[in-house]
Amino acid sequence: MAKIIGTITTSHVPAIGGAIARGLQNDPYWKPFFDGFPPVRDWLAKMKPDVVVMVYNDHGLNFFLDKMPTFAVGAAPEYHNADEGWGIPTLPSFKGDPALSWHLIESLVGEEFDLTTCQEMNVDHAFTLPMALCWPDMNWPVRTVPVCINTVQAPLPSAQRCWKLGQALGRAIASWPGDERVVVMGTGGLSHQLDGERAGFINKDFDLQFMESLSTDPAWVTKYSTAELVELAGTQGVELLNWLVARGAIEGKARQVHANYHIPISNTASGLMVLEPVA
Ligand code: DHB
Ligand code: FE
Repeated sequence: MAKIIGTITTSHVPAIGGAIARGLQNDPYWKPFFDGFPPVRDWLAKMKPDVVVMVYNDHGLNFFLDKMPTFAVGAAPEYHNADEGWGIPTLPSFKGDPALSWHLIESLVGEEFDLTTCQEMNVDHAFTLPMALCWPDMNWPVRTVPVCINTVQAPLPSAQRCWKLGQALGRAIASWPGDERVVVMGTGGLSHQLDGERAGFINKDFDLQFMESLSTDPAWVTKYSTAELVELAGTQGVELLNWLVARGAIEGKARQVHANYHIPISNTASGLMVLEPVA
């Protein structure tokens, strides 16, 4: 049986791609952010995952405002990086795992999650930058399965729905007959708002409470409606739903192995966390 060895949740701000390209990891602006990652890399080197199930939101690359699936899962043999307009260099392609993808899709549809299946799919900064932060040599040692959540255009799936999707994703992974070691990543957030009167909005208290809740009371955030989450975390801060799906995949209790939080990276309060299931 495949095993979920943990979750990695992180922000995915496009400017990180520019900082990597220009080697700014030790620049005073960037250092507090990049310094969060060596412990994650040590953990990955010890845990040796075979597969990353990547929970993120597509930012207009595959799905634009005219066609927006609530949940979409990739089932391609390979995923190319394309830059949907953020002006950052594209990264090497990612190996897929079509057999595992189809197993996850069948299992989730069997649990009444009506997914969009994507046999061709490009991936954007929300997928690529967390991978580059975990494996800076960009020689990806894992196969990947993309899981896209609509955090972009109303109506969004509720936090409650995302929590249930994460739980179902955990069951789907656990029922795969292979012996793969799986990391579920969730990217985006934490609080940020890129547009409108509240552009630049950040809510540190809420972010820290959310991060804490993922190990102490993981369904805590499901008490909020989507409108309340937008108010608390910002219009793009609702990307925290991707973190919630990832956490939901761990059955039962989870232990925080590592965390980092830094304001700001571009317009965003950046968060990073590694969780392990408690046996
Ligand atoms: C920023 C953050 C994001 O999550 C994103 O997708 C794009 C931009 C930002 O803070 O600049
Ligand atoms: Fe984003």
